[in-house]
Amino acid sequence: MTPAIKNKFPIFKYHPELVYLDSASTTHKLKTVIEAEMRFYEQQNANVHRAIYPLAVAATNAYDGTREKVKAFINAASTKEIIFTSGTTEGINLVAQSFVSHQLKEGDNVVISAMEHHANLIPWQQVCLLKKAELRVIPMDKQGVLVLNDLNKLLDARTKIVAITHISNTLGTINPIEFILKKAHKKQIPVLIDAAQSILSHALDVQKMDIDFMVFSAHKLFGPTGVGVLYGKEKYLTAMLPYKFGGDMIRDVTFDKTIFAPLPNKFEAGTPNIAGVIGLGAALDFINKTGQNKIKKHVKMLLEVAEAELKRIENVEIIGNAREKSAIISFILRGVHPHDVATILAAHNVAIRSGQHCTQPIMDFYDIAGTNRVSFSIYNSVADVDALIHAVKEVNTVFSI
Ligand code: ALA
Repeated sequence: MTPAIKNKFPIFKYHPELVYLDSASTTHKLKTVIEAEMRFYEQQNANVHRAIYPLAVAATNAYDGTREKVKAFINAASTKEIIFTSGTTEGINLVAQSFVSHQLKEGDNVVISAMEHHANLIPWQQVCLLKKAELRVIPMDKQGVLVLNDLNKLLDARTKIVAITHISNTLGTINPIEFILKKAHKKQIPVLIDAAQSILSHALDVQKMDIDFMVFSAHKLFGPTGVGVLYGKEKYLTAMLPYKFGGDMIRDVTFDKTIFAPLPNKFEAGTPNIAGVIGLGAALDFINKTGQNKIKKHVKMLLEVAEAELKRIENVEIIGNAREKSAIISFILRGVHPHDVATILAAHNVAIRSGQHCTQPIMDFYDIAGTNRVSFSIYNSVADVDALIHAVKEVNTVFSI
């Protein structure tokens, strides 16, 4: 990528020395995103879906304009299928509560995988505990690849949903979601795809792939925090009860009963994060212009360079060696705690995440306290990889190992 791309992210103007390798946690924000939010607050501020004066109509149009952009981005059939949430976590909780919880009975089951982020584990675990249902886990091997041989046995007539991450936030593994979708659909089981780590670099066509539910967050797309998207097939969303109750999700209210608003408003109670949604729209404009394939190629190149270099360093062990990997590398430095590694890297201006990455079962599986996680995005370059490698070698020197 050219330096011109990096200049589109103001954070690097204020921190020119920053080697930011933590985009799996959150990406930096585009100037256009920040400006779109500021423009809304300074020039266009009004609530949405409520009033008829011109500012309010403009705010509504801008907010629902992003819904159109999201629909096009993932090729949904209708804007009714695009629900704005506060993020991936809320989207999964919404489906767990409004779709699964109501139909789950004792003896039913929910299927997830061994490499889920806590956000795609705990909502299902809790709903299963409450309903005395079973949480089934697709296992993985030491390479960090799902073992799908027994998938047919895990999926049965009592499976209410399969919830699976597309890309592991810890291992970088790209899971074969189309295979899993096909297997589940053969048994009429709906599938939720956690696309938090893949939506930026992978073009996901929900109609072509026949995805039932999909969730992602704006903040991993160069957009703001506090905004996310739940995609759901209209037939499911229509049948589901609202997740939150309040203003803007109703058609008719008396003290006796409420008739809920049609989709998508039924799931968007209360004043939403209007500026954030508009910011997401600006982020999508940039991604469309840049091209997801270009982003994918760039981060894959960085991944390959970094993995090759890391493997050459003494004491480095990469955790997660799937053949299909995205822009994420977890590694340990034998004999040094990940937080010590990250502290020394930070002293060299290299920002990585260390610890469990909200995936404690993965750490238990490998019997480790945590990993050092490096993740790339469009504003990173080979020079950033060089800085990482230099700093990791320094850790070896400091600990004299
Ligand atoms: N889910 C984010 C991560 O993996 C926060 O770091």
